[in-house]
Amino acid sequence: MKSLKFAVLPGDGIGPEVMEVTLEILGKVLSDEGYSIDATHAPVGGAAIDQAGEALPESTVKICEDSDAILFGSVGGPKWESLPPAQQPERASLLPLRKHFQLFANIRPGLLYPELVAASPLKTERIPDGIDMVCIRELTGGIYFGQPKERRDLDDGDVEALDTMVYKKSEIERIAEVAAQTALARGKRVCSVDKANVLTTSVLWREVVTAFFAEKYPEIELSHMYVDNAAMQLARDPNQFDVLLTENMFGDILSDEMGIVCGSLGMLCSASLGLGTNSLGNPFGLYEPAGGTAPDIAGLGVANPCAQILSGAMMLRFSFGLNDIANRIEQAIKETVQAGTRTGDIAFGLESVNTRTMADAILSRL
Ligand code: IPM
Ligand code: MN
Repeated sequence: MKSLKFAVLPGDGIGPEVMEVTLEILGKVLSDEGYSIDATHAPVGGAAIDQAGEALPESTVKICEDSDAILFGSVGGPKWESLPPAQQPERASLLPLRKHFQLFANIRPGLLYPELVAASPLKTERIPDGIDMVCIRELTGGIYFGQPKERRDLDDGDVEALDTMVYKKSEIERIAEVAAQTALARGKRVCSVDKANVLTTSVLWREVVTAFFAEKYPEIELSHMYVDNAAMQLARDPNQFDVLLTENMFGDILSDEMGIVCGSLGMLCSASLGLGTNSLGNPFGLYEPAGGTAPDIAGLGVANPCAQILSGAMMLRFSFGLNDIANRIEQAIKETVQAGTRTGDIAFGLESVNTRTMADAILSRL
């Protein structure tokens, strides 16, 4: 494998800006090691609605199917907010992509360098050494996808709408396995988050997770927490968590909270993996920043590119097996931030630089 074949879906808002410098950085570090990039760009989200009339054109899906991984930017923005909900970029592109490739495991590292503790809204004394945790979120089940999901007019003139939260034992076990593997490579502690005092799906979740770890991974310390408490604990003492394991919607909410507790969504990357393997026999995955399109700064060239670049590093690690190169990129970003070169979202008193300067500083450390 000398040429890395992946699909590039920049999307909307700051997506294209941060994607551009990411590809430059990946290209540089890969060519140093004798690799080249075979990237195919495809429209997605609002950009695809404008170009092709739909958020996820068939041609884009085909390009992804023919690739070994997907590097995704972000989708959505004010321009498309007046469309019917089912046609909006987020719902009509990202969710079907996750479902199509059965990307059930969403891995979101919550990492805050000690040098950046001032960027966290938490008091420094709560996180003197920064934060290091991971959120493992189930991504293709639960209330996002359960059927029925509908809106109906009632005979008495009232209207009702409903979503269905549903989980199978097999879906819970396969995401528990991902949490276990993640924990084994870290602090060997998993906290499973649910709402078993209210929800039937959560009762099953807790039962299955408990049995799974007892049988397969007795060496991992497993704990359980209700989601409301977990939200509170994340804001109180995030470092009590090593690996946080949870279902789709709880994970959506908690990972945003983890993001801000870690300083800025501009630093948060993610990987979404499934059971599928690519042509190299590695996991096929979609890699995207956890933050959104940031319409307020889109087009200004000031967005923090780190989350996108770090997502690229995760892609090299998981889908291409290039762990050393991924480490080099992560190290270069860490050094750049530590040296004080920072975009506005993480500047905190220091002079802030634009996307270009940030990228150049990272490039110079590679
Ligand atoms: C995320 C996003 C998505 C989600 C949206 C854009 C559909 O918030 O990846 O966390 O809810 O999963
Ligand atoms: Mn979210």
